[in-house]
Amino acid sequence: MKKANILLILLAVAVINSSAQTKKPISAEQAKMNKFVSGLMAKMTVDEKIGQLNLVTGGEATTGSTVSTDVESKIAKGNVGGIFSMTTPEKIRKTQEVAMKSRLKIPLIFGQDVIHGYKTTFPIPLALAASWDLPMIKNSARIAATEASADGLNWTFSPMVDISRDARWGRIAESSGEDTYLGSQIAKVMVQGYQGDDLRKVNNIMACVKHFALYGAAESGRDYNTTDMSLDRMYNDYLPPYKAALDAGAGSIMVSFNDINGVPATANKWLLTDLLRKQWAFNGFVVSDYTGVSELIEHGLGDLKTVSAKSLSAGTDMDMVSEGFLTTLKKSLQDGKITITDINTSCRLILEAKYKLGLFDNPFKNCSEDRAKNEILTPANIQAARAAATQTFVLLKNDNKTLPLKKSGTIAVVGPLANTKANMPGTWSVNADMALVPTLIEGLQNVGGKDVKIIHALGSNLTADATLQTNGTMFGREIPRDNRPEEEIIEEAVKAARKADVVVAALGEGSEMTGESASRTDLNIPETQKRLLAALLKTGKPVVLVLFTGRPLTIKWENENVPAILNVWFGGLQAANAIGDVLFGDVNPSGKLPVTFPQNVGQVPIYYSHKNTGRPLADGKWFSKFRSNYLDVSNDPLYPFGYGLSYTSFTYGDVKLSSNTLSKDKSITATISVTNSGSTDGKEVVQLYTRDLVGSSTRPVKELKGFQKIDLKAGESKNVTFNISENDLKFYNSSLKYVAEPGEFKIFIGTNSRDVKEASFTLK
Ligand code: NOJ
Repeated sequence: MKKANILLILLAVAVINSSAQTKKPISAEQAKMNKFVSGLMAKMTVDEKIGQLNLVTGGEATTGSTVSTDVESKIAKGNVGGIFSMTTPEKIRKTQEVAMKSRLKIPLIFGQDVIHGYKTTFPIPLALAASWDLPMIKNSARIAATEASADGLNWTFSPMVDISRDARWGRIAESSGEDTYLGSQIAKVMVQGYQGDDLRKVNNIMACVKHFALYGAAESGRDYNTTDMSLDRMYNDYLPPYKAALDAGAGSIMVSFNDINGVPATANKWLLTDLLRKQWAFNGFVVSDYTGVSELIEHGLGDLKTVSAKSLSAGTDMDMVSEGFLTTLKKSLQDGKITITDINTSCRLILEAKYKLGLFDNPFKNCSEDRAKNEILTPANIQAARAAATQTFVLLKNDNKTLPLKKSGTIAVVGPLANTKANMPGTWSVNADMALVPTLIEGLQNVGGKDVKIIHALGSNLTADATLQTNGTMFGREIPRDNRPEEEIIEEAVKAARKADVVVAALGEGSEMTGESASRTDLNIPETQKRLLAALLKTGKPVVLVLFTGRPLTIKWENENVPAILNVWFGGLQAANAIGDVLFGDVNPSGKLPVTFPQNVGQVPIYYSHKNTGRPLADGKWFSKFRSNYLDVSNDPLYPFGYGLSYTSFTYGDVKLSSNTLSKDKSITATISVTNSGSTDGKEVVQLYTRDLVGSSTRPVKELKGFQKIDLKAGESKNVTFNISENDLKFYNSSLKYVAEPGEFKIFIGTNSRDVKEASFTLK
């Protein structure tokens, strides 16, 4: 390891020691749990303890090629602590009954990737983040918890809180985007939504925060790739959302696959013990990712026995699928490579989780057929998913009031994504029943009503390359394919367009073109679709691009040429109806981008809260020699973070501060008047950013510190007020101390991270 790195790690450890929390006295409830768990552990053999650390699949491989085998006989022998990806009260009861016949009758915990809703699928996480609507996001997690728990589950592998600033990375779709503050707020409400106030209640499930840590900063945006990061960036930008989720009470955390500064997370003692346990005082359990333990062999850390011992002693408590713990830990104990305390510590944490969930009182608490029948896919849940989706769409462009559409006339709905059910819900919607998902055509007809005539043509394939289309439509997410020559398919769509009053082009990505192991180096809409779009534009008919995507795409050409663009991400079960609601103007769009859209892929990673450099480019310039810029493209993004239009317009007044000085332990307010200056009622996300002008370390040019989503009737004005206190100005300095430094600060309030009004104050 380089000397500088050693120094930084020593520094981080010193910070941990100085800030380690003093032990709080334990509550009567905790004392009761400790007594119960200690009593149980006193009866357990080493094998049974190791068994608790083993997490297996319910029989099918999910996100890797390894599958658990002989699951039932392992459960019977006490060799399994939990199962994932098995659902329904019937199957779960049957499996739990096997555990109840094992010697100590320790219940299993049942998990699944309940990521954006359960059967009532909500929009993908990146889309939810675009709503900036925390109560709605919390409610989506609440509904997911109710449905999942009604179907037998008590644990979800969510929320995913990895910050990502790299659109090439496919899993950006599962994240809340690029911003630390927004990501932390969402992390918190997701955990609250899943876990409720008491995990023993039948409709609450345990959250598992993932992927710890820095998974979203994989080099080159390639999934599972190495992360190498400074402590400044870690502490200030990437770690806070994990911390926010844990502070909200998340009961478990999943380790990421990636290497962090030379040590893979699964075996990273600094990460899992020094930071997580000592500094953050996390008292839940740590689970590896899918075969994360055995993958340490490929990382080059040794054989299965060695890597299993390393993971356990680093702080991984539960081994997902590798069975490295199950098959080697006892031998490592005998060889003195690990201690019985290592095993006891992990076993205790897992038993405590089961205790907190009330599973020792009732192992079958989630096995009610009645609940499964009555609480899943209820009309209220479905309605909530539809309303939620309408809040996530981002209107990127709307020239000449192309939108909203009239509920009359002929609409040509064309493109490979117009007539597919499977593409609508989005990646990680394993429980979605595709038969229940309307296609875009169906959604538009439902909302448009009888006076709207819809005509359809495929217009193009998803990608010209059939293999790419197959790889981008996995897990049954097929999209119709036509093997005729491209010109013929396009011509058919052009004919349909000529007959129509307006064209809706449903283009973009297949839903499995993002998600796990779906990284891309080209962020364009596939070329064959672009050729279709160009041909449609040539007809002279108004064209609305309905853009499906799980990541920022490079749509510079589209932005220059298409009059209206609505980014709809992947909107869950009710996506199509919700798109109808927005396209026809029943709902005014209000989503704002939680990620910067680049002009081209060469700008990636691009994010608004960057540092300034010593040679920043002057505002409004494209290129100046010896300045920090590119020869071939300006530094500007295509659409900035926080951007999104509405069918109405909002006018901002000036920022008024209650005082120009802020003293420690006091707060000031910043108030701005926002007016709906158009003729349609609408919602606006008012965003507050700050800049610390002089610091002991370099500070970002802007940092989001608050936002409010407000309703404004046409013509209405409201004053929006934000409180600012010293706490909002704190950051980790170069000694990793969390401080606010006296001096001048700027405040920016506006409709996105670029278009803002500003004011200044001094922190005394
Ligand atoms: C691998 C993924 O990285 C993780 O997010 C997921 O929870 C597990 N597989 C389990 O399916």
